[in-house]
Amino acid sequence: MSPNAPNVAASSQPQAIDLTHMFIPHLRKHQKSPFKAVMGNPTLEMINMAGGVPNPSTFPLLQIQAKVRTSPSLNSEQDGMLSLEHTQLNGSTESLNELLQYNDGRGMASYCRFLRQFTQTAHSPKYADWDVIASCGNTDSIAKAVSLFCQQGDHIIVEKYTFPGALSNLEFAKIKPVPVSMDNEGVVPEALDALCSGWSGSSPLRAIYLIPTGQNPTGATMSLERRKAIYATAQKHNLVIIEDDPYYFLQYGPMQDSTDKPSVADMRKQLLVPSLLSLDTDGRVIRLDSFSKILAPNLRCGWITAPQYMLDRLQILNESTILQPSGLTQGVISRMLNDVWGIKGWIDHLCTLRADYAARRNLFVQMAREHLAGMATFTVPTAGMFLWMKIDLGAASADSTAMPRLLEAMKKCGVMMAPGMPFNVGTDDTATSVPEYYLRAAFALADTDMFAPALKRLGQAIASIRDSVLPDKQSAVHTKPISTTALAAQITVNGSN
Ligand SMILES: Cc1ncc(COP(=O)(O)O)c(C=O)c1O
Repeated sequence: MSPNAPNVAASSQPQAIDLTHMFIPHLRKHQKSPFKAVMGNPTLEMINMAGGVPNPSTFPLLQIQAKVRTSPSLNSEQDGMLSLEHTQLNGSTESLNELLQYNDGRGMASYCRFLRQFTQTAHSPKYADWDVIASCGNTDSIAKAVSLFCQQGDHIIVEKYTFPGALSNLEFAKIKPVPVSMDNEGVVPEALDALCSGWSGSSPLRAIYLIPTGQNPTGATMSLERRKAIYATAQKHNLVIIEDDPYYFLQYGPMQDSTDKPSVADMRKQLLVPSLLSLDTDGRVIRLDSFSKILAPNLRCGWITAPQYMLDRLQILNESTILQPSGLTQGVISRMLNDVWGIKGWIDHLCTLRADYAARRNLFVQMAREHLAGMATFTVPTAGMFLWMKIDLGAASADSTAMPRLLEAMKKCGVMMAPGMPFNVGTDDTATSVPEYYLRAAFALADTDMFAPALKRLGQAIASIRDSVLPDKQSAVHTKPISTTALAAQITVNGSN
């Protein structure tokens, strides 16, 4: 058995259906590089002089130690120290030398092993030949998953409002996003069906990219019924679903009027809405998970779950771009998950996050109701980090400069939120006959003490725009508005989150 032994079809579940014909042409045939084919699986007797592999005795890092926050349900006497050393004392993860050395494109064995077990626990995939591969987080995974099915000039279905990082990925690859309507539960199945049935574009629709939980930017979470309907529609039109789900473990349920933080025990009792992966009987969902929102973003690590033959292609893509995420980072995460926390401690950590976000959401929504009454409407999010607000600019709505002016006013008042425009696929919010103005407020980062001042300032900014309805010509002279796009670029963190 290879050290990174893939998931073995242990059950009576069926194999994934073969969607190889939907890959872009040159990926349809799976070809290992001839060099790798010769080098793979060296026998013990073989003297390996094939690769440009440095001698580990030259690696100057001798030991890496880290202190990890332990979870309340673990024995808190445990000090949470982990140590990566050349001689591995504990057999469950790789030695430091192994972590520092070149490896294949699937990821470190112990890292993948934990995530395979965790995926089984969290999603119980319904077909036999699924597996996981290490990733550098979802931004990179989106590019790779899309590139299996779409190339320059092709089309892909996306939600009407979506993650700008995905849109810039598509723009870079010259793949055209085709928006599908959303409501407060995300993609509308009937709209998806109508789009696919009436499609006459220059390339077939092979995939949909969507964010089912705590959607970015709308905060929408698909119910189980909605997920089933979307999956059935994908089956009907033979679509692959790219399930980008970095907020899945930040589900915190319905609004509570209390501002008390829910307990971890309460969160443990609250069930997560099943993922699309968990409904996938065909093997048509490529699920993208990231540690960015549940450990730390610049660890740059995540994992992808899909049928093994798809992961084989993703492995090739990894091996021709990043090889795999940093072994050191995988080693730290793996040690933390395998040895310090174990699955129980990991789940406790996730429940602690959920309790924290639930309290933030409850407070932020209460404050928004208090300070933005009559100025903004929204659906209360049940997951993720975002409140998506439709802003009522009153009589100023018809003024084409209203949104840039609002953003300028917010800046002056000392509060920033992301405008809807960079998330909007296709038409501009303001290009419709009845303009719609949206702001996305992220309630994860700011101190909770700042929630009320932020929303008061937003209220003042909105009021100042409503009170200053200027004729178009005058407004251009008096306010010197800069474009919404330019402001959006200043405002959204790194232009993409
Ligand atoms: C929907 C969505 N996908 C992906 C990402 C980026 O994830 P990662 O840090 O794993 O690249 C974000 C982050 O803002 C996001 O909201």
